[in-house]
Amino acid sequence: MEDLVSLCKRRGFIFQTNEIYGGLQGVYDYGPLGVELKNNLKASWWSSMVYERDDVEGIDSAILTNSSVLKYSGHEDTFTDPLVDCRKCNARSRADHLKDNKCPSCGSNDLTNPRPFNLMFKTNIGPVEEGASFAYLRPETAQQIFTNFKNVCDSTSRSLPFGIAQIGKAFRNEVTPRNFIFRVRELEQMELEFFVKPGEDEKWYKFWIEERIKWWVNQGVSEERLEIYKVPQKELAHYSKSTIDLMYKFPHGTEELEGIANRTDFDLGSHSKNQSELNIKAKVIKNNESNSKLAIQEKETNEWVVPYVIEPSAGVERGFLAILNEAYRTEEVNGKNRTVLALKPHLAPIKAAIIPLKRNDQELVTLATNLKTKLQKLGMGRILLENSGNIGKSYRRHDEVGTPLCVTVDFQTQEDNTVTVRDRDTMKQIRLPAEGIAQYLKEYLN
Ligand code: GAP
Repeated sequence: MEDLVSLCKRRGFIFQTNEIYGGLQGVYDYGPLGVELKNNLKASWWSSMVYERDDVEGIDSAILTNSSVLKYSGHEDTFTDPLVDCRKCNARSRADHLKDNKCPSCGSNDLTNPRPFNLMFKTNIGPVEEGASFAYLRPETAQQIFTNFKNVCDSTSRSLPFGIAQIGKAFRNEVTPRNFIFRVRELEQMELEFFVKPGEDEKWYKFWIEERIKWWVNQGVSEERLEIYKVPQKELAHYSKSTIDLMYKFPHGTEELEGIANRTDFDLGSHSKNQSELNIKAKVIKNNESNSKLAIQEKETNEWVVPYVIEPSAGVERGFLAILNEAYRTEEVNGKNRTVLALKPHLAPIKAAIIPLKRNDQELVTLATNLKTKLQKLGMGRILLENSGNIGKSYRRHDEVGTPLCVTVDFQTQEDNTVTVRDRDTMKQIRLPAEGIAQYLKEYLN
């Protein structure tokens, strides 16, 4: 973990937020390379969930959430962690994270009884700081998917099964944020709510568990470091009929990377009840009378159904950490240490570095700049002009940040328009016509 944290800071992947003011616990910023890797990871999820399927729509909803949503979703009552105080040093800890029932700060076992601590952040809405004028920062992206269920159904004419996907921020006032970006207070989730006919939920639950494992393996996560933990009945979230935690062997231990839950009709049902209680137009769902916001009319039978929901919910930060952990390695080459980030090319922050062999040679720099501009226009991600003048150092730097290919423009390029292409993983170099680089890169990145 120390090596990863140090690489992240040194090379601009992740910074402590507000560092110059002493930071903010459990909150991080992503630097020039971190933002690229994070965006690539999210784009890969979005592509596999939305573009490569024909039964999923995407949304991007607000973070500020009407408190009623989180009342009826059950979060106000149950989204809590058990908190204990140490009577000796006043440290606060999660009761379920204690070892031998001792305070992790001072080792005392003089602790209070656990009491529930709600993890949701509240904020004021409007100019008056009074009672009801508050909203929550959403603790999961899922609820706005449920509250938009009717909008999406009406605007897309979907029938079951179909899903709604969303990537976005969520906020949790974790008692003890820790292990770098593993447990943070401001996080990002990639969530799919997949709506199915009641009775078909078990089949789809199994389907999504398998799909998600395949996806993580495609991101470079080794299957040996993944394991499935079936959450026991008494530990299930209030909405869940069954849940598995997809666990990953992180540097600090094996913990949850993604959760896949069968949420049944709990959320849509609960929000429908809320609507009828509030006497908004929604009618209840039975007997074909429904105008309900949160049910769907089956095309064959005309019956109104409240679908069951299968939810794969992954954390971007935990994915980021797992992928870095998989990719990071050090090795000895000709008596020198080389650090390599062997990221899958589609995740690499920089796809190719274009390097003029000599920094001050105007002709080489122009050739390299033209090549960079041409490749950049193809939309394959970031192509960087690396004009540092030291080819050895450039290679090492790009190995360390995971750039799959370095393309060197040298004196031979001036004569025959060929360039040297160096592969990050094998360190092998080949000579190719500059014209062919775009195609080569395209095939390499796929
Ligand atoms: N909508 C379901 C849901 O939110 P969850 O298991 O509480 O379920 C889903 O969270 C995923 O979000 C987790 O598997 C994890 O990857 C990520 N996650 C949750 N809390 C987190 C935190 N404090 N820091 C980083 N990631 C977190």
